[in-house]
Amino acid sequence: MKTENNIHIYPDVPALSEAAARLIIGIINKTILQQGRCTIALSGGHTPNSVYAVLATPPFRDEIDWQKVFFFWSDERCVPSNNPQNNFFVAKEILLDKVSVPEENIHCANSEMSPEIAADLYEKTIREHFGEWQPRFDLILLGLGENGHTASLFPGDDQALNSIRIVVDVFVPAQEMHRITMTPYLINNATHVIFLVTGPGKAAVLNSTLSGPENLEQIPAQAIHPSEGNLYWLVDKEAALLLPKQTTYEH
Ligand code: 6PG
Repeated sequence: MKTENNIHIYPDVPALSEAAARLIIGIINKTILQQGRCTIALSGGHTPNSVYAVLATPPFRDEIDWQKVFFFWSDERCVPSNNPQNNFFVAKEILLDKVSVPEENIHCANSEMSPEIAADLYEKTIREHFGEWQPRFDLILLGLGENGHTASLFPGDDQALNSIRIVVDVFVPAQEMHRITMTPYLINNATHVIFLVTGPGKAAVLNSTLSGPENLEQIPAQAIHPSEGNLYWLVDKEAALLLPKQTTYEH
C-alpha cells in the first residue's frame, strides 16, 4: 500500500500527545482563519485520551477559540451516553467539559436508540451541518485496533467498508455490540486525517497496515487515504518498532 511519507515517530506517549495537540491546534486555527469555523470528528478508544487531556490544559486550551469548533465522532458504541465505553462520554469528561465549547457545537450519535435509525439521524445531522451532500470534515482523528480496524470499520465487514453512505450502523460479533461509524467514503473526503497509534501491541498491525500487502477487507485501516486531504500517522516508538526505517520521521 502506497503511503506518502507522513509517518511521525515520537519517543513516548507524552511527546506524541503534545505534538498531536500542537498539530490539531494548528489545523483548527488555520481552518478558522480560512472559513470562520472548524469541524472535527474525534476518535474513540483510549489512545486519543492523552491528546484530549493536553488540549484541555493551559496553554494549549487557551490557543483555540472553542466557540468556533464543532465536534462530531468518527464512531460511537451503542451503549448509554453515560457509560465509560461511550466515546462521547469519555471525550466530554476529558476535554469538552473543560473548554468553552457551546453545547450546540457538539453532535454525538444517539447511542441509545435503534442503531439503524441513529445512523440515519447522524448522517442527516452531518449533512445539515455542512449543507453539503458530500460533507468535508476539516479534521478526523482515528485510532488503529490490533486487528486492523479503525473507527468501527472491522475486518470482514465489507458492507461498511464499501458503503457509499457517510454513516452506517454495524454489529461487532466479537464484542456483541452495535456501533455507528463514519465510512471510508466520508473519511476520505476530509481535509486532514490523523491516526494516533501507541504501544507495543500495535507494532505488528501498524507495520501490516503501512508496509504490508493491501488487504482492505482484513485491514480496514488501509482503506483510509484522503482523496485530496492530508493523512498523518503519529505513532510512538513502541508502535513503530517493526516499521521500515526509511518511511518515517523520527522526532
Ligand atoms: C472505538 C474506536 C476504535 C479505536 C481502536 C483503537 O470506538 O473503539 O474508534 O477504532 O480507535 O480500537 O483503540 P485504542 O486507542 O483503545 O487502542
